[in-house]
Amino acid sequence: MKKNSTSPIIAIDGYSSTGKSSYAKMVAKELGWKHIDTGAMYRAVTLYGIQNFSEGNIIDTQALVSHLKDIHIDFKFNPETQDNDTFLNGKNVESSIRDFSVSEQVSLIAKIPEVRDFLVKQQREIGEKGNIVMDGRDIGTVVFPYADLKLFITAGVDERAKRRFLDFREQDKSITLEEVKENLKQRDYIDQNREISPLVQAQDAILIDNSHLNKEETYREILRIIKERLGG
Ligand code: DC
Repeated sequence: MKKNSTSPIIAIDGYSSTGKSSYAKMVAKELGWKHIDTGAMYRAVTLYGIQNFSEGNIIDTQALVSHLKDIHIDFKFNPETQDNDTFLNGKNVESSIRDFSVSEQVSLIAKIPEVRDFLVKQQREIGEKGNIVMDGRDIGTVVFPYADLKLFITAGVDERAKRRFLDFREQDKSITLEEVKENLKQRDYIDQNREISPLVQAQDAILIDNSHLNKEETYREILRIIKERLGG
């Protein structure tokens, strides 16, 4: 697969709750480029399934797949957060796609081949003009294998669970650290073991393990790598 544009693409992949979307957003802001969080797209499809095709807590995946054409996902820049908000069929869902109910189901939806084809096509359309930082699980391996720079971010599961727990606690006090850790482990397992585009580090990606780095240290390391590899 060849690149259409000379403008650069940075792919940031890695595990859940490593902060990769936040770093992708910060890098995009620093460079004046666009940021796309592809996890938000899988979350939006999952939310659509929960809202329209679920009974109890189970999404009817066949019905969801046959209605993918009815799902329109857009991103609009929010000056307050300095990042894109996710819109699902015209409605701002940036907050609801982060709910625990969505986190619980999203890996199951993200392993459906039709869902991946549907979203990867859109991700390529959005990103191929370049000057973009795209984060996810398969950006450097599948969506843009020719990306100019690929980073793969990881951290130990205990550290990631603690970080995610602190985020969730602001919205929902009833969730326990154990529940958050279990959910992370399950998602890691499903993401790494699915048949199509499993979560795997691209051969030419640079690994950053931020288990023992704080936000600022991680960001500084990312900027150092970008400067070294892309100049500027
Ligand atoms: O980054 P996140 O936690 O918001 O991602 C939500 C889920 O979507 C995650 O469990 C894996 C999936 N995902 C994926 O399969 N491919 C991507 N490019 C991005 C996310």
